[in-house]
Amino acid sequence: MTQAVILISGRGSNMQAIVEARTSLAIRAVIANRPDAAGLPWAAARGLATRCVDHRSFDSREAFDATLANAIDAHSPDYVLLAGFMRILTPEFVGRFAGRLVNIHPSLLPAFPGLHTHRRAIEAGVKLHGATVHFVTAELDHGPIIAQAAVPVLDSDTEDTLAARVLAQEHRLYPMVAGWLAAGKVTVGRDGRVRSPANSFATDALIAPREGS
Ligand code: GRF
Repeated sequence: MTQAVILISGRGSNMQAIVEARTSLAIRAVIANRPDAAGLPWAAARGLATRCVDHRSFDSREAFDATLANAIDAHSPDYVLLAGFMRILTPEFVGRFAGRLVNIHPSLLPAFPGLHTHRRAIEAGVKLHGATVHFVTAELDHGPIIAQAAVPVLDSDTEDTLAARVLAQEHRLYPMVAGWLAAGKVTVGRDGRVRSPANSFATDALIAPREGS
């Protein structure tokens, strides 16, 4: 059975969506870098192994990443899913889990890597925004794209309303990819592009229609 460890920093709603979707990807543990991450008690209450590796108790990024990597490897996962994990990872960490490290980012990459994606999307005047699930590489928010979900940006949107519309799609997108990973359906070609069921999947299921239409 394909196994995964999920890393979170806060509420962990994407983690919850993956767990509740009950795909055939076995979630072995949920690890947070903050002791107050609300997702930790949620996961523990569902019988999942949980652990906190508090980044503030380490002198360097390298030391934190090494301890985090060991905590992950204790579960020997096939995949490590970053779900709202708000730490920049060292190249050593990314290399150790190369091809097995997956992230969800709240924009249609390569647009808007980094923070404050919803505000930047509104300021840029884009008409479509969304979320991307991708493999993690050393360059922040630039790895091979596995799947994306698009939503409209409305004239009336605020950062919060747009974030909520995107988040609803994140909660569909990440469990879908988790199922693909479990089924061994995600591969990266020599050209660095991901081969996934997305192209044969009903792609329109990933484009959220405007509410009320
Ligand atoms: C999500 O929008 C995720 O894409 C971003 O941070 C948010 C985390 O939400 N990186 P949650 O912790 O999964 O609820």
